[in-house]
Amino acid sequence: MKSMLLVLAAAGSMVMAGAANAADAGADLAKAKGCLGCHAAAEKKVGPALKDIAAKYKGNKDAAATLTAKLKDGKGHMKVAATDAELKTLVQWSLAAK
Ligand code: HEC
Repeated sequence: MKSMLLVLAAAGSMVMAGAANAADAGADLAKAKGCLGCHAAAEKKVGPALKDIAAKYKGNKDAAATLTAKLKDGKGHMKVAATDAELKTLVQWSLAAK
């Protein structure tokens, strides 16, 4: 029983570490792409705070697709020059803010 708990605890901390790495990757990419010039995690700059974006799209199952299209095609947002994989990371980063 005890070893079972240890396995669960280890799995849990691995999941946490994975999430932290994904957030870091998003933030690094956002910096590299210049997003942080207009967006910050918690306060409004030129663009809305990430936490406000995340709150606006909370529970919207089309959020990722909507935002990806917006950024990719420059619809209602300046066009973002990024690969599909980069866009995915950036959109996840935008939606993960709390
Ligand atoms: C020149 C300033 C500027 C830059 C650079 C910028 N944004 Fe924005 N962004 C805005 C403004 C202004 C808005 C609010 C208007 C809107 O919703 O499009 C916004 C809105 C957004 C939204 C929410 C859209 C919605 O539907 O609510 C997301 C997501 C977003 N930006 C992501 C990014 C990402 C990712 C990058 C970097 C690749 C980026 N932005 C770079 C100005 C900027």
